[in-house]
Amino acid sequence: MILLIIGGSASQKLAANVAKELNDWLCPIETKKFPDGERYIRIKGKIDKEAVIIQSTGYPQDENLIELLFLIKNLKDLGVEKTKVVLPYFGYGRQEKRFKSGEAISAEIVANLIENAGADEIISVNLHEGSIRDFFKIPSKNISAMEAIAEHVDSIAEDPIIIAPDKGALGFAKEIAKILDGSYTYMNKIRLGPDKVETTIADIRYDFPTDDPELANLNKKEKKVDIKSVEGKETIIIDDIIATGGTIVNAIGILKEQGAKSISVCCVHPILVNDAVLKIYAAGAKNIAGTDSLKSEVSFISIAKTIAKSLR
Ligand code: R5P
Repeated sequence: MILLIIGGSASQKLAANVAKELNDWLCPIETKKFPDGERYIRIKGKIDKEAVIIQSTGYPQDENLIELLFLIKNLKDLGVEKTKVVLPYFGYGRQEKRFKSGEAISAEIVANLIENAGADEIISVNLHEGSIRDFFKIPSKNISAMEAIAEHVDSIAEDPIIIAPDKGALGFAKEIAKILDGSYTYMNKIRLGPDKVETTIADIRYDFPTDDPELANLNKKEKKVDIKSVEGKETIIIDDIIATGGTIVNAIGILKEQGAKSISVCCVHPILVNDAVLKIYAAGAKNIAGTDSLKSEVSFISIAKTIAKSLR
């Protein structure tokens, strides 16, 4: 069956590439702002029973979210029976709980809005917290961009050590290392404020349960290695999000201190606030690459194939 693919204004090129991968039909839409700033949406193509909307809800988050809600509801009104919503980047995902009393749980509110607009299924890419899926009652899948990122890493570095700049990114480092049959390690990070983090070297021998099977082989052909192993090696830092760049800048500092031969940086969602790119290069990165889950000057890695695979 041919799927009707609709790309919101935040993800048009990605939607076009997904449609190309699937040999499906990219539906033309008109999306614009009225002079007073209000959003206008029109589906210009012929609609079918099933549709897929691809729209990231990154900056400008509120505009992209409203556009997505208009698209979902409009398709329902026009007779589409099943709408899958692909969220390459799920905006507001970092407020998935009440960190301080009185805070709105923004991720939950956004999930409810998308579901109530009429979405029938959600496909997200490396959600900041997997638990966000629990906010949806409709079926949801959270797919990983690591295969696409690993392919890129393989093309730019030889036998690199994959670095998680905090424990939250450890799963990504492990996933890439597994694909490339390489090694990985991580650092400890504490967030002191929205744009300030403190990073320290982690000692993997004390930081994981002693019954961790990988620790048993620490001195043999070990995959999870000590930070000292980066000396003279090519390294790749992997994170889900680069926002202010503070996390990456700190990690680069530690890798330089430890004598890494080169430091490249990869992420899934290149939010890149203000001068993040400059800060990361100034800190000593050889290159930076993110996926096209968000449009940015470093969105070189396409997740079109990954999304297409999840839609097949
Ligand atoms: C946080 O836990 C995320 O995985 C990223 O490390 C974080 O969002 C990066 O933020 P920043 O670039 O502002 O340090």
